[in-house]
Amino acid sequence: MKGIILAGGSATRLYPVSKFLSKHLLPVYDKPMIFYSLSVLMLAGIREIMIISSVKDLNNFKVLLGTGDHLGISIQYKVQQKPNGIAEAFLIAEDFIKNERITLILGDNLFFGHNLSGILRAAIKKKNAATIFGYKVKNPKRFGVVEFSKNNKVISIEEKPKKPKSNYAIPGLYIYDKEVVRIAKKLKPSKRSELEITDINKIYLKKKKLKVNILGRGFAWLDTGTFDSLLEASKFVQTIESRQGNKIACLEEIAYLNNWISKKQLLDYSKSINSSQFRDYLKNLTTEKY
Ligand code: TTP
Repeated sequence: MKGIILAGGSATRLYPVSKFLSKHLLPVYDKPMIFYSLSVLMLAGIREIMIISSVKDLNNFKVLLGTGDHLGISIQYKVQQKPNGIAEAFLIAEDFIKNERITLILGDNLFFGHNLSGILRAAIKKKNAATIFGYKVKNPKRFGVVEFSKNNKVISIEEKPKKPKSNYAIPGLYIYDKEVVRIAKKLKPSKRSELEITDINKIYLKKKKLKVNILGRGFAWLDTGTFDSLLEASKFVQTIESRQGNKIACLEEIAYLNNWISKKQLLDYSKSINSSQFRDYLKNLTTEKY
């Protein structure tokens, strides 16, 4: 299983900040937004990752994350020339995906909840299917929305419906089998001139190969695309981190707990960090009992 983080887009809702900087590099409390989506892929056990962003921003991601070596992962980078839609990721990354299954996460989504790693690892084991998630929100109109039958079967999926048929939005985390590139190649742009991820999901639904995993109310799914949601997400992360003393989406921590980097590598790396607080956090990981 490989992973893609899609971190392009126009971020019109974050103007004027987005005029010069990708929103995915903005801090959500104490780390850049993209760390949250990268942490989700790492929690799922995915080590081969491609980050897709605009020409303007791609180099900043390279400076921030490099080859991924220090995290025991490999990161490649590719440009999306224009925000032509989320499903374009599979065309851009065709050579990277080759004939493998692929998980796509949007760079502005934040997930937090008990056993997220276990849920993801179970989902990515499925061979001939697509898995997406459903999450209850108060206002689903801005999202893809899933409709369920009385016995919890998926009946329909609609993109940004004016009259949503349920309150279950589809978060920006999608797991596909090897067919997805072939399916993406057949898509036509929608009315808003985008290759829609919802169209891919509808095709899997039609083939009866779409699984929708509900993330319950004990989970937090936040997207961070507006000034308000950005601030809310920062407050959320601050609250949890200051209560527990654990960081959310600390990439070095996940790499260490996954045994992708050794204690020595973690400690050597921590020496290169010029924040004593963060250095101490990493050092403590090597003595802490879980
Ligand atoms: P959106 O929130 O749909 O769009 P946006 O980020 O451009 O923001 P705005 O609505 O304020 O203009 O995008 C969701 C995520 O997907 C976000 O992380 C950007 C990414 N994205 C791409 O990288 N390329 C694309 O073509 C699209 C449509 C989105």
